[in-house]
Amino acid sequence: MSNSVRSQIIDTIKRKGKITFAEFMGLALFSKKGGYYYSNKNFHQRDYFTSPLSHPVFGALISVQLKEVWDIMGKPKKFPVIELGAGSGVLGRDIVRFISKNEPRFFESIRYFSVDYQPSRDPFLGINFFKSDSHPFQNVAGCIISNELLDSFPVHRFVRDESGFKEIYVDLEGDDFVEIIDEISTTNIENILSGYNIEEGLYGEVNLYMQDWVKSLSNILKQGLILTVDYGDTAELLYTIGRKYGTLNCYYDHMVTDNPYKNIGDQDITAHVDFSALIALGENNGLSTAGFTTQKKFLRNLGFQQFVGALSRSDIGQAAMDANRYGMMELVKTGHMGDFKVLAQTKGLENRALSGFMEIHQESGRISQKVDPVFLSSEHMNLIAGRYPYLTDQVENLWPFDKPIE
Ligand SMILES: C[S@@+](CC[C@H](N)C(=O)[O-])C[C@H]1O[C@@H](n2cnc3c(N)ncnc32)[C@H](O)[C@@H]1O
Repeated sequence: MSNSVRSQIIDTIKRKGKITFAEFMGLALFSKKGGYYYSNKNFHQRDYFTSPLSHPVFGALISVQLKEVWDIMGKPKKFPVIELGAGSGVLGRDIVRFISKNEPRFFESIRYFSVDYQPSRDPFLGINFFKSDSHPFQNVAGCIISNELLDSFPVHRFVRDESGFKEIYVDLEGDDFVEIIDEISTTNIENILSGYNIEEGLYGEVNLYMQDWVKSLSNILKQGLILTVDYGDTAELLYTIGRKYGTLNCYYDHMVTDNPYKNIGDQDITAHVDFSALIALGENNGLSTAGFTTQKKFLRNLGFQQFVGALSRSDIGQAAMDANRYGMMELVKTGHMGDFKVLAQTKGLENRALSGFMEIHQESGRISQKVDPVFLSSEHMNLIAGRYPYLTDQVENLWPFDKPIE
């Protein structure tokens, strides 16, 4: 499979001459001839784990935010939630399960659409699966959500030298891929970068696909929220000397590598999201920025600690307790998923504040009543088992479980 995508890229370069890194990455990830996201490996032997896979409390807390938007919009009878790049669909299932159990009226209204190149093949009551690389919707009055989608969009790579911005292209030496530095391929790159203060010698990436993505989402959204969760930062923190060589990462067999030219079609390639560009694009396309924060704060503001308390009161065995605690804490861990960013862009919500972005001073977050705990299922990754396979029963004091997260 992967050999055919490699050959396809080689043929493309032989035919056209050097290609941009975005063209290379587009083929390596999305080619129908064995691109990473078209191969079955993406589903059955994941090279990455994501927040929804880490613990269902992620979906439970997103549900709290969705319900608030439904309330703000006057509890419409039909409320579409469209999840883009849903992968195996675990987030949707967690959301629908949580809402059906805890918010019966909201459950009657919600229409959940799970969209991916490769949608889950397992039917699930309450979810409509779509195989698509676009969004076949219009006049949406509801929510559009995504987790770790934008980081997989193909990026152009640049370097800043003494004369300005140059682009990194992919060419061939024999049958080996080599990088060539040349003039930038489109002024769009310069238009974005010239607004930033980027030092000479810095390498980085520009995600031009985001432009069409934001435009099309703004066109289809009549009223509601676009909630984007991903790793990345504002431009100021992204294009710095601390990240001199950019943010391109490749994931192969749960290992991070920095060589996109190996394991083509078998490894994931990602780049951090420039949230300054995403916010500006939204504002230029009729969206209001309703909130921008870290995943750790977002989940805490919505009531993460309530679920931690509920888990600790639950009556499950020590091994299950440890596994759940571990998965939950991964979501808010500094230096990891806790630093992911959450952006809320809205239309027609009259600038109403959203709880996920309002700093809380009480531990309960948005949720005032006691919550029922949510537990890992076989759909999630038991991270503790992956990391500590030798543990059979008890892990004492692994996490500061009763201590609220800072
Ligand atoms: C890193 S995975 C994240 C999956 C899921 N959201 C999660 O958090 O577990 C990225 C997903 O985005 C999908 N994807 C990437 N670009 C897409 C596009 N333009 N349209 C639909 N799906 C896309 C891929 O097929 C893949 O399933």
